[in-house]
Amino acid sequence: MSLSLIGRSIKASPTLRINEKAAIMRQKGDPVVHLGGGEPKARTPIEAATAAAALLDAGEVRYTPAEGTPEMKAAIIRYTEEFYGRRVAPENVMASSGAKQAIMVALQAILNPQEEVVFPAPYWVSYPEMVKLCQGVPVPAPPEDGTFQPRIEDIEQRVGSYTKAVIVNSPNNPSGAVYSEQFIADVVEFCEKRGLWLIMDDIYHRLVFRGNTWRSAWDYAKRVDENSKIIIINGVSKAYAMTGFRIGWAIGNRKLIEVMSNIQSHQTSGPSVLLQKAAIAALKGPQTSVEALRMTLENNRDYMLQELRGFDGVHVEEPGGTFYCFADFSNYDPDSTRLAERLLDRVMVATVPGVEFGREGYLRLSYCGSIKDIKQGIERMKWLLDPNAPNELFIGERKLVRQPA
Ligand SMILES: Cc1ncc(COP(=O)(O)O)c(C=O)c1O
Repeated sequence: MSLSLIGRSIKASPTLRINEKAAIMRQKGDPVVHLGGGEPKARTPIEAATAAAALLDAGEVRYTPAEGTPEMKAAIIRYTEEFYGRRVAPENVMASSGAKQAIMVALQAILNPQEEVVFPAPYWVSYPEMVKLCQGVPVPAPPEDGTFQPRIEDIEQRVGSYTKAVIVNSPNNPSGAVYSEQFIADVVEFCEKRGLWLIMDDIYHRLVFRGNTWRSAWDYAKRVDENSKIIIINGVSKAYAMTGFRIGWAIGNRKLIEVMSNIQSHQTSGPSVLLQKAAIAALKGPQTSVEALRMTLENNRDYMLQELRGFDGVHVEEPGGTFYCFADFSNYDPDSTRLAERLLDRVMVATVPGVEFGREGYLRLSYCGSIKDIKQGIERMKWLLDPNAPNELFIGERKLVRQPA
């Protein structure tokens, strides 16, 4: 079949693939524990649901401007003022169908074929594929010291004459690391000096745990004006538990936003008006649900760390935010894809292989579910992998007994 080279080079999102496999297993009645997910289980804020329902009731569900409704932009501007301490103009804002689309359109707006985009590893699975979709070249930058904290030298080393942009995601998916203030300051200075675009993926910025501080790139910018090449990405998916609403946004200089809006106008004509209504209500409504979610996730993180540290062969660092733990399982299996498949097939625990995020031997484990999920999931993993774990394991009615090695 004559499919395009680009099309054929793009992998399915591994996280969505695992979700699908786990859902099929569950449909068959298998009691899968899902530690692979990327979405909080909290309920959608009630104001968001009622705002969308009211518009649906009115029966006036129409196109909106491609870059989002004026009301949506106003809500984003208010949010930005509150959390970034900076007032931007409506012309600096574009709403999108999720932060994912906002990043994709930003890349389409800035990249020419063969231009390179550098991002610290481990990285969100979509960055390399998005860059490839724009005919660009993804350049992962793993920290040389093997930690999850990049240093500016790690970036500098990979920047060359083809480099067009750097993407920074902190708090980070998959490691949960909140990047140091020093690194954010350095990367802003470096990109300004070299004239590079800097895409800040701040989607997890409100899910930061005690003892960690998130800082915006703007805090360190020499100037934030119409020549600034900093692009801020955010959205309602994670903090408001509204992943299915698909509303995110980009903030950048007017020319960039104009070009991005033109591109988006031919792709989706902008996000759905219903979902914009819901997002506006969430952004304007009481913010108690965000803090409640943050506290629940911090508690879940502590519990997961405690359970993982009972595993002799697992090395894990404390995540400062998000709802992911990125743990080193290479003592049990250096091939993370094989290990994740074995965990799903043998003990019905869904995880995401680290190789997908640019670090082999690791697994990404989510703690966005319940404490019960975490407890059962780690217990099953231990039974399969850790020779010191109890010999028997009950999964529902089934009793599994470990064979002697
Ligand atoms: C780092 C990162 N950026 C962006 C997104 C996409 O967010 P949205 O659901 O708003 O498209 C995700 C979702 O998993 C993510 O982990």
